[in-house]
Amino acid sequence: MTLYDRRKFLITSAYTGCSLFCGGTLASVLGGCETVETGEPMIKISEMQTLQTIGGAIKKRYSKVNHGETIIIIRQSEDHFVAYAAQCTHQGTEVKLPKGGIIVCPNHGSRFNIRDGKVLDGEAYQPLHQIQTQYDKAHGLLKIG
Ligand code: FES
Repeated sequence: MTLYDRRKFLITSAYTGCSLFCGGTLASVLGGCETVETGEPMIKISEMQTLQTIGGAIKKRYSKVNHGETIIIIRQSEDHFVAYAAQCTHQGTEVKLPKGGIIVCPNHGSRFNIRDGKVLDGEAYQPLHQIQTQYDKAHGLLKIG
């Protein structure tokens, strides 16, 4: 089984049986057993404490966004959110949640600007892949993807 096949198998398994493996091997391989949400990729901001603060950020997984892999959603201002694929553009390691306006990859230390996902320094040379967001302020709904 190639590394790609193994990863594909693990992701597929995560869709179907994540809860069976939480706390076990699969969770450690995937870097956590985040639930993959299968509904519409949308967040009601009033129900998401972290995103009620400017600079707040969360990781999420939606089956319809970024091939079901982790994304990072960041509140940049009262009315503006950004989302990025959480996979480092160097070798695909999942990046950390931002601190001080910077997203860091734990593998080789590449650092990305939260404003635009561009590389500040490190091994990566491509920005983080940005994912479209649309904020409906009147209803407090953030649509992703
Ligand atoms: S995988 Fe992120 S810097 Fe190498």
